Amino acid sequence: MKKLYFGSNLKMYKNVHDTMEYLTKLQELTADLDRSRYEMFIIPSFTSLYCASEKIDQNLIRLGAQNMCWEDQGQFTGEISPLMLKELNLQIMELGHSERRHVFGETDQWMNLKVKAALSHGFTALLCIGETDEQKEYGISDEVLRTQLKIGFYGVSPENIGNIWVAYEPVWAIGVNGKPATPEYAQEKHHVIRECLAEIFGEKGREIPVLYGGSVNPGNSNQLIVLPDVDGLFVGRAAWDAEKFNVLIRDAIETYNNQ
Ligand code: PGA
Repeated sequence: MKKLYFGSNLKMYKNVHDTMEYLTKLQELTADLDRSRYEMFIIPSFTSLYCASEKIDQNLIRLGAQNMCWEDQGQFTGEISPLMLKELNLQIMELGHSERRHVFGETDQWMNLKVKAALSHGFTALLCIGETDEQKEYGISDEVLRTQLKIGFYGVSPENIGNIWVAYEPVWAIGVNGKPATPEYAQEKHHVIRECLAEIFGEKGREIPVLYGGSVNPGNSNQLIVLPDVDGLFVGRAAWDAEKFNVLIRDAIETYNNQ
């Protein structure tokens, strides 16, 4: 039976107090879930990470950062070093979220530098990829996804496969104005991603977990989790209330286990 992944990026929401209240509640509510089968992770704001890493049991909820510089130190005002994040015992490095790429102009070449730096420091690199509405309209979604993967993982050795996760998040599906991908569309693109990972890393590349994100909600989570090439759900808004996220996760697990 494959492992299922459930996580959320809190983006630029929740102060330290609210983050801790949320994480503490989520940890309590989900404590009974078998972590060898269900992986849970939350990626809060930078300012909450110190407190979260002190108080949250990462055997239950793994913590990650939303971004990272590829250099260890230097004249990079406003950036966060992998060494600083390592000090907090974080496990996951989220790289290339659509908002980083499209609001802040991060490139595939930067992703490659960041992926390599994250892996060399022992983090799990969670590379986010996805096509825009315009790219979908032009019929080049597969080319875009393959380009993001091929550049993002350029020169990365297959030995790192155990520390790589991918999130497929179509840009047009993310956020308040997003419309979720249909299960058929999500499966089709996850398949393209899986094949490309095998092309990059060899057959073992198929073992890399590929999570779906972009307007996941209680109305579509059960249909998405059962898709053959979906290993988990990367949830935004629908995860930011601990009780609601707990219900969404349990429903998805039940649906998956009953299929
Ligand atoms: P959303 O965010 O679920 O609120 O659309 C998803 C994401 O940005 O990861």
